[in-house]
Amino acid sequence: MKVMGIVNQKGGVAKTTTAQALAFGLNAKGYKVLMIDFDAQGSLTTSCGLTVTQEMSTAFEFLNLSVKLKDDFKNIVVNLREGLDIIPSDIRLEEANVALAGKPMRELYLSKAISSIASENYDYVIIDTNPSLSLLTFNVLCAVDEIIIPFKPEYQSVQGVRLLIQTVNELKALSDIKINGFLITIADLRRNSTKEAIDYLNDFAQSIGTKVYKSVIRQITAVADAPSAGKSIFEFKPQAAQDYLNFVEEFLTGGNK
Ligand SMILES: Nc1ncnc2c1ncn2[C@@H]1O[C@H](COP(=O)(O)OP(=O)(O)OP(=O)(O)O)[C@@H](O)[C@H]1O
Ligand SMILES: [Mg+2]
Repeated sequence: MKVMGIVNQKGGVAKTTTAQALAFGLNAKGYKVLMIDFDAQGSLTTSCGLTVTQEMSTAFEFLNLSVKLKDDFKNIVVNLREGLDIIPSDIRLEEANVALAGKPMRELYLSKAISSIASENYDYVIIDTNPSLSLLTFNVLCAVDEIIIPFKPEYQSVQGVRLLIQTVNELKALSDIKINGFLITIADLRRNSTKEAIDYLNDFAQSIGTKVYKSVIRQITAVADAPSAGKSIFEFKPQAAQDYLNFVEEFLTGGNK
């Protein structure tokens, strides 16, 4: 079981879109995947066509479970299709920031919860995160094997990734976090500023010994329309999913194909 976090504290850079595409793409290739919506906005949950009710358990309850988890786990995950489950989220997760604040080892709650999942149940766990560097994000960073950083190529993105890498380095005292790579998202390749931001990212990635995915996710209207239909881009408009298909392929082969 490999645990992947899709992380960037900048808002609107396609974290949720990427988490969903990666999870559905891996599932389509026959892998067993668990998605964890770790954002109180619940965008990944609703993008999968799910509505959370008061009776349902969410990532908030998942965090609080420990010993009893094995019995209760089946009541928290929602099965979407063969080999694809999700732990949904809603605004309740906001409370976790407060609830965790006074606890010892507060960065490690998600890691503990995930370690009690029977690892033979899933090949991949894909975690979507909220756009901040909060305690919730620290929990994700300490729970994952690797992170993928979606990067929307524009001027304002540049400082953000520096801060993120600095945070990752600080948390290395608690957890061995590997950066899988940067993924360029929502790219408008006609703009000069896009090219400048991509050049910057390539230099920066090289300076920290990290790769930038060769697959670039271009800005395509259909991708923006898919969430409101509650479908992944592969189902919503397969013709518009080529960039994400390339990305999933590159993720699996490490680009050696
Ligand atoms: N390749 C794309 N082309 C066009 N629109 C896109 C693309 N990828 C994502 N979008 C749209 O851009 C917006 C932001 O994407 P998304 O919600 O995935 O970002 P996010 O990083 O998860 O945002 P947040 O920080 O709020 O969680 C959404 O409306 C989404 O549908
Ligand atoms: Mg999101």
